Amino acid sequence: MNRGRTLDDPIELARLVPSSELDELIASIRKALGCSMAIHDLKGRRLAGDDGAGPPRRPIEHAGDPLCQLAASGDNADAALSLAAETLELLVHHAHARDLAAATHEEAMRVTFGELTEHNQRLQRAVTRLEELDRLKSNFLATMSHELRTPLTSVIGYAEMMAEGLAGPVSTEQRDYLTTILGKADQLLGLITAVLDVSSLESGQLALDRSALSLADVVASEVATFQPQAGRRGIAIQLEAQSDGVVVGDRKKIRQVVSSLLSNAVKFTPDHGKVGVAVRTGPLGPSTTSESPLGVQLVVSDSGIGISRDQVAKIFEPFFQVDSSSTRAFGGTGLGLTLAKAYVEAHGGRIWVDTSPGQGSIFVATFPLVEATS
Ligand SMILES: Nc1ncnc2c1ncn2[C@@H]1O[C@H](COP(=O)(O)OP(=O)(O)OP(=O)(O)O)[C@@H](O)[C@H]1O
Ligand SMILES: [Mg+2]
Repeated sequence: MNRGRTLDDPIELARLVPSSELDELIASIRKALGCSMAIHDLKGRRLAGDDGAGPPRRPIEHAGDPLCQLAASGDNADAALSLAAETLELLVHHAHARDLAAATHEEAMRVTFGELTEHNQRLQRAVTRLEELDRLKSNFLATMSHELRTPLTSVIGYAEMMAEGLAGPVSTEQRDYLTTILGKADQLLGLITAVLDVSSLESGQLALDRSALSLADVVASEVATFQPQAGRRGIAIQLEAQSDGVVVGDRKKIRQVVSSLLSNAVKFTPDHGKVGVAVRTGPLGPSTTSESPLGVQLVVSDSGIGISRDQVAKIFEPFFQVDSSSTRAFGGTGLGLTLAKAYVEAHGGRIWVDTSPGQGSIFVATFPLVEATS
């Protein structure tokens, strides 16, 4: 950006006052006083007027600086020179004021632009720093999870060996303790694995081990796993498989999706409620236009507490739990749905929910349909 003019710069008449205004001035004086006149710059070059006015003879100053020279000939030459000098002074005064206002404006713009540039640079530095921190955090999570898992598998292994009596006979009380140790260690292992999975998601390392599998089979086996704990709370899990649901995907990850949705349905449904699981063919996405491609749908519905509209948008975010108070009735870390969504989407499917508080929830996860070859 150019530096603006300041009050101290010398003024050039030709730059300040347009030649049309000078021509007009000369014409009106000629008309009023009937004499010939001209305006010259400081080097004697004519800016306006005619030759007949003769050589310049009246210097004009503005704010103490020489500005231009006037020439006039004829009967009223002196009056014409005085009138022209006064009028020029007015013209220059206005023009100079305009010029200074523009310069001030330009200077203000320059300062604002400079401040904005500096502000942007500061923001950019902060973003770079945050990205670096985020990368460090993901690396740290991945390393920590890995380091925690290794000793934990030993704890589980030795506890299992003791429970099996490999280290000598175990009393009933000792077996109870070992069962609790194993249960808690499994819970911890699940949590560490979930954190490790989320950190590998964040660093973009989600690899799928694909094979053709029946979603209905995976669902049936997960339902069987959850049936006992649901049964203890009087919750019946209804399974309805309308489709074999052949999917090409990563069995472990798909099992985790099913398990996550089932675990939530059971967890957030009060005792004696209902949970339903269905595998069927349906639209791949939540919109039901006739063009939407078909997919295999896993539908998990419950008669539980439901989720309010403003919370629904957040439940797929890492670590988000609707009730995050310390007196929270339900366990978990808030990673289940984050992972489920990432896994479903990595398979080319979608996941969504239809829910409202007190009315239960219907979670739908879809996978692209593969025609079974028989
Ligand atoms: N079926 C459901 N009914 C009511 N609320 C639900 C349901 N499923 C999920 N939510 C809400 O969404 C939140 C996030 O679910 P998510 O599965 O990610 O975490 P979590 O179950 O709390 O913990 P984690 O799955 O890691 O053990 C839950 O804490 C709960 O508030
Ligand atoms: Mg969960």
